[in-house]
Amino acid sequence: MSLYDRIPNNVNLSEDTRLQRALEKWLPDFLDWWRQMGPDGFQENEVYLRTAVSVEPSGWAHFDYVKMPDYRWGIFLTPPEPEAKIGFGDNYGRPAYQEVPGEFRNALRRLIVTQADTEPASVEQQRQLGHTCPSLYDLRNLFQVNVEEGRHLMAMVYLLHRHFGRDGREEADELLQRRSGNPDRPRILQAFNQPCDSWLDYFCFTMFTDRDGKYQLSALAESGFEPLRRTCRFMLTEEAHHMFVGETGLERVIKRTAQLMKKAKDGDVRELGAIPFDILQKYINYWYASSLDLFGGEISSNSADFFAAGLKGRYREEELEKDHIAIEGVLNLAVVEGNLISHREVPLRNALNEVLRGEYAKDNERGLARWNKVLEEEGLTERLYLPSTRFYRRVGEYAGHYFDIHGNLISQSEFEELATEWLPTPQDREVVRNLMTPVTEPGKIANWIAPPRTGINRQPFDFEYVRL
Ligand SMILES: [Fe+2]
Ligand SMILES: [Fe+2]
Repeated sequence: MSLYDRIPNNVNLSEDTRLQRALEKWLPDFLDWWRQMGPDGFQENEVYLRTAVSVEPSGWAHFDYVKMPDYRWGIFLTPPEPEAKIGFGDNYGRPAYQEVPGEFRNALRRLIVTQADTEPASVEQQRQLGHTCPSLYDLRNLFQVNVEEGRHLMAMVYLLHRHFGRDGREEADELLQRRSGNPDRPRILQAFNQPCDSWLDYFCFTMFTDRDGKYQLSALAESGFEPLRRTCRFMLTEEAHHMFVGETGLERVIKRTAQLMKKAKDGDVRELGAIPFDILQKYINYWYASSLDLFGGEISSNSADFFAAGLKGRYREEELEKDHIAIEGVLNLAVVEGNLISHREVPLRNALNEVLRGEYAKDNERGLARWNKVLEEEGLTERLYLPSTRFYRRVGEYAGHYFDIHGNLISQSEFEELATEWLPTPQDREVVRNLMTPVTEPGKIANWIAPPRTGINRQPFDFEYVRL
């Protein structure tokens, strides 16, 4: 059986010899990359994983024990809509592009490669976490996210191989050559070069950074380039689980801290082995700010071009009531002028990154509200919050300026004085790292986190999610 026979797909792979040839060369490299840069250890263990075997509701979540290198990474697009139209921009209402339009070839390739690059990057960032898992349930969820990011990479590589010819193949090769955090060949976006070396980082990553992924995919899922639209729609079904891991993971950490706080003398939970709220808040600040950067500059001619061309839309563009052309509106944006924050009206098309970032911020607020509800239920007055979207930004209008947590402009020296109250210090990271000792007995869990409400696929928490 050749390698590509192993790939579940709904793209007629068995009849596409050109695509087979491209994949035959790429797949062994992908598997080499997985063994080198995928989860460290555990490659020979059986993991209770879900695999997508078709796009029908009955087929996209098939559960079974599988060794990770044997995972069946598939290529799936949601079913075609032959009548599909371009849903926004200058070509609004014209038939959707089934092939890459020549004039947008570079722009489209860039969009696809930028998205694709984040998929293997996150696997690389998370590769050591298995060794410090708080439970088998969490270990399994980590690996589930990892194999699905591998599948997302494959989904994007399919588009490059199928629609971009030789330069597509070269891009696909380079996706396996860049490395997260490597000074010579880094991943494209900065948040994907940062270390993610504790489970607290991991839960923040899946909460905030995977959620950026949701919004980028949602905007691409509106694309007038049909194959991209259909690919991203299917990826979104998997992305939901990644954010579930982050949101409920942090919720369980918060719950545990709250419980131990009530037992602790003077409310200091460090002694009892929990993660204090001030450290939690700093991790939230840090990962939220890094993830906000992923949306790009507030004022962006690229976003305007992508929109005009019908390549990248707005969040749920299809459901927006009117004005899919977005040529008339403006967005009122806070900008820094001299030593002051002032306001500028930006043509809507140039502010689409900011519009998408706004949707993302609202989504996160919902998550924060749920966490604060847990604190309320536990009878505590502590509350967690999201910092201002201007805080600690390194991309866009606010980069190079200093803001406090509320978004007030401050001086560099004020910022440096207060930064240890807002961002994780080396000591904070040490506190967190010291708690990260592995728990791998079925049904047991580390002290710093509460067990989940339910298991995976209706299995109990003490199910043997990974056979060690
Ligand atoms: Fe992904
Ligand atoms: Fe993801």
